[in-house]
Amino acid sequence: MKINKTLLTLSLLAASTFSQAGEVEVLHWWTAGGEAKSAAVLKEMIEEQGHTWKDFAVAGGGGESAMTVLKTRAVSGNPPSAAQIKGHDIQEWGGLGFLTSLDATAKQEKWDELLPEVVTKVMKWDGEYVAVPVNVHRVNWLWANPVVLEKSGVTVPTTLDEFFVAADKIKAAGFIPLAHGGQPWQDATVFEAVALDVLGSEDYNKAFVDLDMDVLSGDKMVEVFTKFKKMRDYIDSNSPGRDWNVATSMVINGEAAMQIMGDWAKGEFTAAGKVPGKDYICAPAPGTDGQFTFNIDSFAFFELSDEENQKAQQDLAKTILTKDFQEVFNLNKGSIPVRLDMDMSKFDQCALDSMATFKSSAESGDLVPSMAHGLATTSYAQGAIYDVVTNFFNEKDADPKEAAAKLAKAVKAAI
Ligand code: GAL
Repeated sequence: MKINKTLLTLSLLAASTFSQAGEVEVLHWWTAGGEAKSAAVLKEMIEEQGHTWKDFAVAGGGGESAMTVLKTRAVSGNPPSAAQIKGHDIQEWGGLGFLTSLDATAKQEKWDELLPEVVTKVMKWDGEYVAVPVNVHRVNWLWANPVVLEKSGVTVPTTLDEFFVAADKIKAAGFIPLAHGGQPWQDATVFEAVALDVLGSEDYNKAFVDLDMDVLSGDKMVEVFTKFKKMRDYIDSNSPGRDWNVATSMVINGEAAMQIMGDWAKGEFTAAGKVPGKDYICAPAPGTDGQFTFNIDSFAFFELSDEENQKAQQDLAKTILTKDFQEVFNLNKGSIPVRLDMDMSKFDQCALDSMATFKSSAESGDLVPSMAHGLATTSYAQGAIYDVVTNFFNEKDADPKEAAAKLAKAVKAAI
C-alpha cells in the first residue's frame, strides 16, 4: 500500500514535470569560440529546467545571414521560439505582428526596475516587452598585442594621429598593424569608430540616429572618410572575406598588432586563455576615451501556438535576466551584464572599464548607439550606409568628398 502511494506520488510528479516541459528553438549567430561558449550557458540552463533546446545557429558575424534565414522561416509560418534580433529590427518585427508579449514575466520579475531605460526602450513594442536584453557590448575598443607593440617601439595609440604614427612603425618592424576582416559589417565597425572620434558624440548622433543630411554630407564627414581610407594602408592583402575572429586570432598569435572591434573580441582572448593587461591590452578606440558606442544583444520572442512551448519560452525569457546567467554568459562573451545591480567581482579590468564608461557616458551625453550593429537606425538606412562605406573602402581611388555626398544620397533614398 505504502509503496503504491509512493509510486503514485512519483508518477504524478513526473507527469507534472513532463507536462511543463517544452521545446525552445533559438536562432542566433554565435558560432565563434567565445560566442559558442556563451550560447552553451543558456542551453544548459534551459535544459536544467527540463526543457529541450533546439539550436538554430546560422554562422556569420554581425548576423546578416541569420536575419535572412529568419525572414524565410517566419514568412513560411514556422518561426523559432526566440531569435537574436536587435535594436530597430525589434520594432520592425513587432510592427509586422510576429512577436509575443512578455509583459506578465516582465512584471513578475520587475524588469523595469532592473534595467536602464536606454535598454528597456529598445525591448518594448507598443509599450510591451517583446524582447529580452542579454548584455551590453561596447563597440569602440582597440585590442592590442603588447609584445608586438614593444618590438615595434610603440605604445597604445590614444588618438588617430598617434595610431597612424604607431602603425607606420609597426609596419616597418614587419608586423601587420591592423587585423581586419573585409566584410561590410566589419568595415562599418571601423568606420563608426573613426566617425565617433572625428564627429564627436553629438554629430555622431545627428548623422546616424537623426540621419541629418547636412552632417552626413558635411566637411567633417569628408574628414571621417579621409581618415578611414588611411586605415587601409595598415591592413594586409588577405583581409577580404576574413571572419572577425580570425582577425582577432592574428592579434592573439602576434601576427598583427591591433584590431578595432567590439568586446566580443574579448570572448576570443578569454577562450584562448589570455589575460588582459598581461597577454593583451584593451583600450578605447583611438580618440574615443569616455565615449561608448553601445550594442545590446537581445532575443525577440515569436508568437507560438503550442502551450508547452509557450511556457518554455517564458522560462527562457526569465532565465536570461537572472543574475546567474548574466554573470556566466557575460564572462564568456566579453560584454558586461545588462543588469546594473550585479556583483562584478569576477569580471576583469576591461569589463570594469566598460561598466564605468557605460555609466559615465550616459551622464555626459557620450553614450551612443552603434550604427554598424543595428542600434542607431533602421535596417534600411543601415544597409545604405554599409554599401557606401564598403564600396568606398574597396575602391582604389575612392574620393572622400564624393563618398560623403553619396552617403547622404543613399540614406535619403532608403528612408
Ligand atoms: C554582433 C553581436 C555580437 C557578436 C558580433 C560578431 O552584431 O552583437 O554579439 O556576436 O556580432 O558575431
